[in-house]
Amino acid sequence: MRQLVTGGAGFIGSHLVEALLKEGHEVRVVDSLITGRRSNLDTFYKDIEFIEGDLANPEIARKAVQGVDCIFHEAAVPSVPRSVETPLLTQHNGEIALLNVLTEAVAAGVRRVVLAASSSAYGDTPTLPKVETMPSSPRSPYAASKLACEGYLSAFAHSYPIDTVSLRYFNVFGLRQDPGSPYSGVIAKFTTVMKKGERPVIYGDGKQTRDFCYIANAVQANLLAMRHHNPLKGGVFNIGYGRQTSLNELVRVLNRLFGTSLEPVYQPSRAGDVRDSLADISKAVGVLGYCPTHDLESGLREFLAQSE
Ligand code: UD1
Repeated sequence: MRQLVTGGAGFIGSHLVEALLKEGHEVRVVDSLITGRRSNLDTFYKDIEFIEGDLANPEIARKAVQGVDCIFHEAAVPSVPRSVETPLLTQHNGEIALLNVLTEAVAAGVRRVVLAASSSAYGDTPTLPKVETMPSSPRSPYAASKLACEGYLSAFAHSYPIDTVSLRYFNVFGLRQDPGSPYSGVIAKFTTVMKKGERPVIYGDGKQTRDFCYIANAVQANLLAMRHHNPLKGGVFNIGYGRQTSLNELVRVLNRLFGTSLEPVYQPSRAGDVRDSLADISKAVGVLGYCPTHDLESGLREFLAQSE
């Protein structure tokens, strides 16, 4: 079977490509290389079909979806602060690209689309853990864009002969996550600076919490979503580990793993930032059979060993 990974040269996308190849699938990747990097695909580039292009162009979307069984739509500009600075860029690579993919997928007879959705959709509501039935409350253009994409997935599953499902990722981390941009995920940044013996910068008091989800767990969820026998009808599933960790605690864990005692530098909080985040994963466990294999520490250990 041929599977399509949009944003396949990005962090999560490249791991999906690797896992699909291991399972014996034919894999096509489409990536604009705005945030993705071809080098993320180096070790398996010869085994895939690669299309460089912007999915906001319908021609690229049409080409990408031909002959495909399932689409993993990972392509996005994945950053809360970047979306605050350039909301139209987020929309261009979010809603517009997705609508092209969905429209062309229906025309090409694609079976299912699995969307990289985001826990940011829950916003800053005080109730924890976050359950899929809770009202959404986007606080950034990024969150609003991901939420709109979920809406389109549900709409398409109910309007056209295609199945869809949204996986709300909770702060995924692991190998190949770009540490080099001001918008990079916190674990990619902290591991990179602390490895060099430098102090990590915490925005705010460090008491904000996240449900950090190791990449292997996110990949597992995607494969389960692809294989699921019954229609998922645009359903939304939390994909996290199910444990809350503060940034101060994250620095303590990393100090222990690196054998360092680096004190964080505290700077003002970022606009659009969410205070606390924790996933209730029981729906994914019950419906998809999701069973996360790595908690924060075992994920960090594997990631650090791989990046040596
Ligand atoms: C949000 C989403 C997540 C999404 C991601 C895409 C929530 C709860 N999570 O992640 O689902 O995949 O956007 O980018 O909305 N921080 C520092 N120092 C740094 C970098 C970050 O203190 O050098 C802080 C941030 O201010 C934030 C936390 O670490 O409080 C996590 O930040 P980040 O890794 O960028 O992800 P979120 O914005 O939480």
